[in-house]
Formats: sequence, structure tokens, C-alpha cells
Amino acid sequence: MNKKIFITGVAGFLGSHIADRMIELGYEVIGVDNLSGGFMENVNPKIKFFKEDCNNLKKMNEIMQGCDIVFHAACTAPDGFSLFSPHFITENTFGITMSVLSAAASNGVKKFIYCSSMARYGKQPKIPYTEDSECMPATPYGVAKLASEQVIKQICELNGIYYTILVPHNILGPRQNYIDPYRNVAAIMINRMMQGKQPIIYGDGEQKRSFSFVQDCVYCIERAIIQDNLNGEVINIGPDEEFVTINELAKEIAKNLDFDLKPIYVKDRPNEVKLAICSSDKARKLLNYETKTSLADGIKEMIQDIKKKGTQQFSYNYPLEIDNQNTPETWRKQTI
Ligand SMILES: NC(=O)c1ccc[n+]([C@@H]2O[C@H](COP(=O)([O-])OP(=O)(O)OC[C@H]3O[C@@H](n4cnc5c(N)ncnc54)[C@H](O)[C@@H]3O)[C@@H](O)[C@H]2O)c1
Repeated sequence: MNKKIFITGVAGFLGSHIADRMIELGYEVIGVDNLSGGFMENVNPKIKFFKEDCNNLKKMNEIMQGCDIVFHAACTAPDGFSLFSPHFITENTFGITMSVLSAAASNGVKKFIYCSSMARYGKQPKIPYTEDSECMPATPYGVAKLASEQVIKQICELNGIYYTILVPHNILGPRQNYIDPYRNVAAIMINRMMQGKQPIIYGDGEQKRSFSFVQDCVYCIERAIIQDNLNGEVINIGPDEEFVTINELAKEIAKNLDFDLKPIYVKDRPNEVKLAICSSDKARKLLNYETKTSLADGIKEMIQDIKKKGTQQFSYNYPLEIDNQNTPETWRKQTI
């Protein structure tokens, strides 16, 4: 196999960190991104970059020529918001996976690594979620991720393409988009608190999540790209040691910013999962995974990154397709 890798979403948070690592390891990186949620400043100058929409199958076919490996991270990934923008979000989750996958099969790609999401699991009867749990996605985004995985399995098995499905949890760290009002709770809180505004919390804030520092995910993805014993595997990636409420997350951020915290509580978001944590046992076994960065240290690094760039207004740049009494006011009235 040659060391030419095609990375989608390469101007985004995760895709750009993977591109950096692959360059360090001596790979030739071809990257695409339509810059809808990513930034040119994230793109490593040593990669061959194409500003393209992954929906463009003809372009995907052209650009992917000669690549043996695909890491597909491009996505418009606001989980809760997808209930109010199902056409746009699924087109940019499932739709783009179909074009990237189709081009991979046509180009004789040998390895396809897909970045799914824990939204695939949906509302589970027990935690932590393991890879063999029955998937019950509760949002169009979760459905689109799971459907993508299923078609990847079909096309890759038929065409003899080695494939692996990686399932990150909630990631945080430098380069995360902090002006997106639809996702990335820690980044939104930091951006607001740095503007002197109280964080907005949906529901009672007692919903629990496990956050992964980005380098802890990068390490797993790197292993998945390099190893050859993971064909057909679905693997949760990221830590499962720290399980925190959104209230605790806000407190940790406020402590670091020396901010007098009095959160603004608003109505629950529809279909939000209360307890979401994935088991990392399979990653420990197959990827030799171990958590290297605690949540507290991850938050510190992220704050440094946002301080360096400066706070910014939130950008409401995705279509709100369903605007009715079910739509959270934060999005209807753009109050974040
Ligand atoms: N960040 C997390 O907490 C998290 C958790 C679980 C899964 N994931 C998954 O990881 C992947 C990367 O997420 P991220 O956090 O880096 O998001 P991100 O928004 O920072 O990066 C995604 C990139 O995809 C690009 N993109 C979107 N639609 C596109 C299209 N049609 N054509 C070309 N480019 C397009 C965006 O411009 C962006 O740069 C996604 O597949 C996401 O579902 C992320």
C-alpha cells in the first residue's frame, strides 16, 4: 500500500489534526473541505488541499485518483439541530458519505476509515455503550451516521475494501469551532464566558457526558489507519474514565476563566440523551488505547487556543428548515 491518504473535512477540527499527524508520519495527504464549518488556518500547508464539496461525486472521483487510504471525517454534525434541519444535515452526513464511498470503490481504494459518532447509539437502556449495543439513534444525524456505516459495510465487503468504523465521543481541544451555535458545548461556553455572558444550559444540566481530548482520539485514528487487523470492526474511541454533568463542565470552565457562574437554564432540547458514555474497553484491547489528557487539562488547552484567536460572535449559517414551537428558542431567536 502506498502512503497516499485522502482526508475529508481536513479544515475541520479532527480532520486537520489527523492531517498533521499523517504528514509527520511521512504520508502524502490529499485533503478536501468545503469550508462550511472548517477554516483555512487549520489546513496544514504541506497537504494538497482542494476546496470542494464532498457531494460533488465527479470531483471526488478525480481528486481521489491514486489514493490507497481514505479517512472520511467531513460532516455537518450538529446532533440536536438535525431534528430541525433534517434535509441539510443528512445530505451533509449520509449524502456526502455516499459520494466519498462511491469514489473510493471506483478508484480501487484499499482502506476506508470512517468517523461515525456516538449518536448512532441513541437512547440506550444501560451505560456505558458498547459496540455490540443495539443502535437506536434518536436524531436524523444519528440515523445518517448509522445508515452510512451500513452502506460502507455493503460497498466495502463487495469490493474487497478493508474498512473500520470509529466512534468518537464528545471531543474537545484546540481548533474546535467555537462560533458554531449548534454544537460543541464546551467551546460555546468558553466563547460566551470570555464575552462576559453566562452559559446557556438546556434542561437541568444534569445530563452526563464523557469528553475526549482531541489528541486521545488522534492517537486511536492513527492506529486504525496504520494497523491491519481491524477490518470490519466498529470501535468506540476516547476515554470512559470521567463522566461529568453539563453543570460540572460549566463549573470547570468558569474556574479556569475566573468567571462568576450563574448559568441560564432553558427548556430541554427534544430527544436529548440524558446519559451518554461509551466503553473504551475495545479500544484498549485493539488499539492499545490509554487516556493521556484529563478533562481539566483539555479545557485549559482549549481556553488557551480560543484566547489566542479572540472571542467571536456565533455564526448561524445552517438552514433552520423546521421553525415551530418545538424548535429551541436559542436557535429560533439566535440568542446564543
Ligand atoms: N467533535 C466531536 O465531538 C465529534 C464527536 C463524534 C463524532 N464526530 C465526527 O467527527 C468528524 C469530524 O468532526 P469535527 O468535530 O472535526 O467537525 P468539524 O465541523 O470541525 O469538521 C468537519 C469538516 O467537514 C467539512 N464539511 C462539512 N460538510 C462538507 C461537505 N459537504 N463537503 C466538504 N466538506 C464538508 C466542514 O467544513 C468541516 O471543516 C465528523 O464526522 C463528526 O461527525 C465528532
